[in-house]
Amino acid sequence: MKDLLFVNAAQVVTCAGPARMRKGSEMRDAGILKNTAVAVSDGRIAMMGAARDLEHAYADAEVVDCRGGVLTPGLIDSHTHAVFGKPRFEEHEQRAEGADYMEIAKRGGGIHASVRDFRERGEDDLYNLAVARVKELASYGTTTLEIKSGYGLSIEDELKALRVIGRLAERQPMRIVATWLGAHEIPHEYRNSDERRQEFIDLLIEKLLPKVIEQGIARFADAFCEPGVFTIEETRRILEAAGKAGLGIKIHADELKPCGGSELAASLNAVSADHLAAISDAGVKALASSNTVATLLPGTMLFLGKAKQAPARALIDAGAAVALATDFNPGTSPTVNFPLMMTLGVSQLRMSLAETLIAATVNGAAALALAGETGQIAPGFSADLALFAIGDVRELPYWYGARLCVGSWKAGAPCHPHETGSKLNPRPPEVVPTG
Ligand code: NIG
Ligand code: FE
Repeated sequence: MKDLLFVNAAQVVTCAGPARMRKGSEMRDAGILKNTAVAVSDGRIAMMGAARDLEHAYADAEVVDCRGGVLTPGLIDSHTHAVFGKPRFEEHEQRAEGADYMEIAKRGGGIHASVRDFRERGEDDLYNLAVARVKELASYGTTTLEIKSGYGLSIEDELKALRVIGRLAERQPMRIVATWLGAHEIPHEYRNSDERRQEFIDLLIEKLLPKVIEQGIARFADAFCEPGVFTIEETRRILEAAGKAGLGIKIHADELKPCGGSELAASLNAVSADHLAAISDAGVKALASSNTVATLLPGTMLFLGKAKQAPARALIDAGAAVALATDFNPGTSPTVNFPLMMTLGVSQLRMSLAETLIAATVNGAAALALAGETGQIAPGFSADLALFAIGDVRELPYWYGARLCVGSWKAGAPCHPHETGSKLNPRPPEVVPTG
């Protein structure tokens, strides 16, 4: 693989620092450098410094001219449900007419509608749909993507979902991480009695989990812990079993009503507790004093029309590590635009620009147990990079909804093609002074 030399960036946002989650005030520094070139060798960041020095050391490298754009670590979307069949746009309007997300689910819509559709589809069909969607995600600057199962909810259909994710990881240029979300909902065929409900949970633990482990097709396990879905005790049982079997733990926690999911995540040493719009004060404290990343999904609350967003300020001020993610899924967050989540981070969650950058990189990596590998532009890290057609990183959340990414790389290999992009704030390419 040829060495690469990135030159002429107006800013290089390094997010450099310790190779672990950044908690509380540690999120305040995103490490914004000027006059910096970045050399990549064997897919890793090799050296950073003045262009003139690096041009000597890397005389044979392929030069990437950033044309006065901003170079950041590739964005890390640590929470998506990107493998699904049909979209569910009819529910969007039903909510506008007054129906609630949980009410729609009780009527057989919501996750149940996606499950019925998913079960009817073949693996190739689901793979092809996902490829197009993953490319869209990449086009906004995401280079690492977590994808959950959870629309199969039977042994065969959950394994099918994880196989599709595995195929994406193998064949698509992004870094893709699989999470088993067998506990996304109780499927309709198990809903008619408490005994049947228990049978489903036993099936998850005794029959499905061993197959997931045997086939080595997931890195994490997740569960939707929410009144009306899985209780705290059920979630604990399922995720303890998954943890014992060797999977990392994530939890959909305190999304709509507080029920102690955040405290459970902290006590299970989960890598992340996700959503948290309804987290309690005790939950905030529990996460702040844990090694669990608080992953906030502001697109979901926006799309569901909820007035309340997760208390990012309280979490960060208490000392928690906050990550942002899209929650890309057909029901509650059909967006592929990661920088838009950073816009919501600033405008709705009152995060600073630096906090949104750390949340989109280092802390996203930590939420996938990848903090030593990706999320920073620093020597030794994988060369996972995103280039934006802006001259100041503050423009990234500012031009909200715009597609500003003009190129991205995973381990030095192109992820999203390098193009010359957006004309929102045209400026002549800055020439980096040499020497
Ligand atoms: O993260 N909350 C549960 N799961 C998804 C929504 C899935 C769906 O509605 O299809 C979420 O919001
Ligand atoms: Fe989700």
